[in-house]
Amino acid sequence: MRLIISFTRTDLNFFQEKYISLEGEKVKILNKHSMKKFENKVVVVTGAGGGLGRAIAVSFAKEGAKLALVDLKEEFLSEIKSEVARLGAEVLTFGADISDYPTVQNIFQQTREKWGSVDVACNNAGVVGIGSIEEITPEEWDRVLGINAKGVFVCTKAALEVMKPQGSGAIINTASIAGKMGMPHLSHYVASKFAVIGFTNSIAKELATTGITVNAICPGIIGTGMWRGEGGIADRWKKPGETEQQSWDRNKSTLIPQGVDQSPEDIAEGVLFLAGAKHVTGQALAVDGGMTM
Ligand SMILES: NC(=O)c1ccc[n+]([C@@H]2O[C@H](COP(=O)([O-])OP(=O)(O)OC[C@H]3O[C@@H](n4cnc5c(N)ncnc54)[C@H](O)[C@@H]3O)[C@@H](O)[C@H]2O)c1
Repeated sequence: MRLIISFTRTDLNFFQEKYISLEGEKVKILNKHSMKKFENKVVVVTGAGGGLGRAIAVSFAKEGAKLALVDLKEEFLSEIKSEVARLGAEVLTFGADISDYPTVQNIFQQTREKWGSVDVACNNAGVVGIGSIEEITPEEWDRVLGINAKGVFVCTKAALEVMKPQGSGAIINTASIAGKMGMPHLSHYVASKFAVIGFTNSIAKELATTGITVNAICPGIIGTGMWRGEGGIADRWKKPGETEQQSWDRNKSTLIPQGVDQSPEDIAEGVLFLAGAKHVTGQALAVDGGMTM
């Protein structure tokens, strides 16, 4: 039962509402302005042990969500699990390969069994692959496409098995600026991210009348493992005589019109926007400082 009492705070000159809800014997007073945007919503985040996945998980936790966190490397999940729990979030963790369909089905089903729904699926896990056409082997092509493209397909398919019966949900697939433009020495990675955007657009059209939105987020240049890790893109794109740091500084200042890299939190902000925007579907939102404009 929820009773709304309204009053005016003349000292601060704004209108405020107070909620009184009766829960058993207890009476709780909630301030409307402290209510969180994803309160009690159930959110699955894959690649949650990595740079962007962690920021996405933390942002949803701050907005009151319950979180199912997935990563191939289970050891990466313990830190983020503690962090979101400290923020008050209920959390499940799964050490799993997101390209394995039965495994992913099981994750979505277990999450639904635990909390009754899955409201948001952030299909974010991915790997980078770097190499010239001569260097990329058919096996390496399959590895990168198998995680980045097939993984997004598998996660979307499993998410929809829960979302379609409930008649609601938001799917956000992590693509990249590499899903909008070609890049040297990244052709299989680029192919995988073009696939993510094309797939996302097609499924959004297929589901347009179901109450489910399907969008892609396209991160720009962020200094996580992909760019700054051992053998990462900054290292690969070094000019003769350049250090990895110099390559990083040059690339971000020359490639990005705004001249600065993006933070994981910038990407999370875009993801939360897409998760809450009822009439935004089939889009590939670039958070890239203007790199793809
Ligand atoms: N960092 C960037 O500049 C950038 C730019 C554009 C797009 N992206 C995309 O953002 C996403 C996240 O990247 P990130 O920067 O956080 O990288 P990251 O390497 O820090 O994190 C990726 C995470 O995904 C996990 N993962 C990899 N394969 C998996 C699998 N098969 N099953 C389950 N988990 C798996 C890894 O263990 C890792 O924790 C990726 O899809 C990536 O392509 C990143």
